[in-house]
Amino acid sequence: MSRLPRTFDPPVKLTPKQANIYVWGFQPEARFRDAVCGRRFGKTFLGKAEMRRAARLAAEWGVSVEDEIWYGAPTFKQAKRVFWRRLKQAIPEAWRAHRPNETECSITLKTGHVMRVVGLDNYDNLRGSGLFFVLVDEWADCPWEAWEEVLRPMLSTCQYEIPGVGTRKGGHALRIGTPKGFNHCYDTFQDGRPGHEPDHKSWLYTSLDGGNVPAEELEAARRKMDPRTFRQEYEASFENYAGVVYYTFNREECRTAERIKPGETLHIGVDFNVMKMSAVVYVVREGLPLALDEFHGVRDTPELIEKIKARFPDHSIAVYPDASGQNTSSKNASESDLSLLKKAGFTVVVDSTNPSVKDRVNAMNAMFLNTYGERRLKVNIDQCPQFTQCLERQVYTDKGEPDKKGGYDHMNDAAGYFIAKRYPIKQIVTKTQSLRM
Ligand SMILES: Nc1ncnc2c1ncn2[C@@H]1O[C@H](COP(=O)(O)OP(=O)(O)OP(=O)(O)O)[C@@H](O)[C@H]1O
Ligand SMILES: [Mg+2]
Repeated sequence: MSRLPRTFDPPVKLTPKQANIYVWGFQPEARFRDAVCGRRFGKTFLGKAEMRRAARLAAEWGVSVEDEIWYGAPTFKQAKRVFWRRLKQAIPEAWRAHRPNETECSITLKTGHVMRVVGLDNYDNLRGSGLFFVLVDEWADCPWEAWEEVLRPMLSTCQYEIPGVGTRKGGHALRIGTPKGFNHCYDTFQDGRPGHEPDHKSWLYTSLDGGNVPAEELEAARRKMDPRTFRQEYEASFENYAGVVYYTFNREECRTAERIKPGETLHIGVDFNVMKMSAVVYVVREGLPLALDEFHGVRDTPELIEKIKARFPDHSIAVYPDASGQNTSSKNASESDLSLLKKAGFTVVVDSTNPSVKDRVNAMNAMFLNTYGERRLKVNIDQCPQFTQCLERQVYTDKGEPDKKGGYDHMNDAAGYFIAKRYPIKQIVTKTQSLRM
């Protein structure tokens, strides 16, 4: 084992909340750490201490020089602007083999280890050897694929010896950032909550917790910002962001713990898609709908029918399918999806054409929240995890249409066929009379 030369820099003082995150570094129970914090909390400052420690441990634990230490941000330009100078401050000259490479933004240490600042936008170009440690800044703004396809695999091969402990495998990661709706940053934060993934740990701190922003400054921000943006940026709160199609849905306020009762009539909204059939199961109580179950990623109509019958053998069932299912099924050239559903004994409720997308979306939003503040459509979040995620994540495209590329459309479409049929927003009909002049 080698060591980097001793330095006599004054020690960096972390704030107590930064220290809470830092002390869990390189522990097996916290191999993947997620710190979700408000603006100016001191996330990037903490990053400096983390990178310095990673350099020291790589030397002490005999990490192969193939395994690098990276700071990543959404783009290379941003990564360089935010961190390159800070990285050079964090790594003492006495530790460096030679001058930093200003074009690549990399530092080679005397031990041979390489530290780098990278942009995660062009993640295909990043595939390389291995990683001992990666710090991902502004995680909510980075592409999930960069993590899944590049960083995560690069962390899997690293191997080292901890004196007194023995051989350990696997590089470590810290992802830090401010939330952006319920995207992948929300998922990885959840992975780190107690009782979830055994090697993940996560924290959530507000800007005030960081101690770098004076209270007056926060008050000024409060005056200038809308409440949702303020909560997201300064209180690190996961909020539905503008641009979400079902903006009136809120998982806390629309939640129900109700379950389907034996023998209850079921209303099932169905969207046809080869390999990706979706269905949302409702009951109606006191005239109002409750979404209490779901089917997701089903292969085709015959498989959906089989699954519905197996899960709900003693219920009378009405299905509200996509009107396009009148066309011939992909599976059996002689039968349409709708006739298969009818043959299965379900009541099929469908018009000759689908309602317009806008009418369907408006009907759903109105049921989640109307102007009287009433939430008339409730969802069992635990029984309908896919539907919940789709509601929170489907956004509008630049053209103003609900996005179909993100894969969050099918459950919402399925759910909407029932709602638009049973609880349509009625057209206001105005009568015109011709005037006799
Ligand atoms: N432990 C600390 N000691 C001294 N100063 C600190 C400490 N932590 C943070 N700061 C200072 O507070 C300010 C905000 O820190 P930093 O840029 O790390 O925050 P951030 O959470 O990354 O902010 P942003 O949300 O803008 O990315 C900086 O000026 C930084 O130097
Ligand atoms: Mg920062």
